[in-house]
Amino acid sequence: MKSHCIKTINLLTNNDIDNLLIIADNLFGRGYLSKNELQRYIDDKTKTCIVVKINNEIVGFQLMQTIKPEEIASLALKEPQWFKKQFSSCNSIGVLKTIAVKDKFKNQGIGTLLTTESIKILNEKSNCILSICWDKKENTVISSILEKCGMIQVRKIPEFWKNDSIEKNYSCNICGEPPCTCNAIIYQSNHQNKPEDKKY
Ligand SMILES: CC(C)(COP(=O)(O)OP(=O)(O)OC[C@H]1O[C@@H](n2cnc3c(N)ncnc32)[C@H](O)[C@@H]1OP(=O)(O)O)[C@@H](O)C(=O)NCCC(=O)NCCS
Repeated sequence: MKSHCIKTINLLTNNDIDNLLIIADNLFGRGYLSKNELQRYIDDKTKTCIVVKINNEIVGFQLMQTIKPEEIASLALKEPQWFKKQFSSCNSIGVLKTIAVKDKFKNQGIGTLLTTESIKILNEKSNCILSICWDKKENTVISSILEKCGMIQVRKIPEFWKNDSIEKNYSCNICGEPPCTCNAIIYQSNHQNKPEDKKY
């Protein structure tokens, strides 16, 4: 008998949080995301999380956020002056944050679907998009997805998460116990349809 596969893409709900945390702990290390933080992606208007389900099982998710240029320091764990200058001309910045797809569902286009949908959502609210990515071998995959979606690599920052990992005490899947010494690659795209140009 032919099996039917139902794929959905929706906003995160309270019922999804525990299962989403299992995926995050597994892929990024325990403590990288918390229940409280995920709750903010439901309650806070500037934060959005989209979830892909196949036959009602969460198989991937993406977190995103919109910030004002003056709030960029909150993301700039290093080189805050560079971030300030680089994004000074933006009215609102859409930030592509964590993306994850369960191992057995990788390479089926789910990461590309999540990124495409997230960029659509962020383009409605901002005129610049930023993504801060781990620079590690496996990340050729996320790099190729971001570049396919029009993002450009603008900077590489060494040991981006070092102090943050010590302060928050999270273990990186590559480095293990803190400190995390991974480098970050900064991706950016500026699009022409600025929110203030829209005629409603
Ligand atoms: C990054 C991630 C979300 C991608 O999800 P995915 O569903 O496998 O992505 P897709 O299937 O849409 O696309 C994968 C692309 O990478 C390509 N790819 C797969 N393995 C690759 C490799 N070793 N090197 C280069 N490209 C590779 C695929 O061919 C595909 O490209 P194409 O669509 O042009 O053919 C997923 O691998 C993941 O969860 N990784 C762990 C978490 C992570 O590192 N997240 C990023 C930091 S937040």
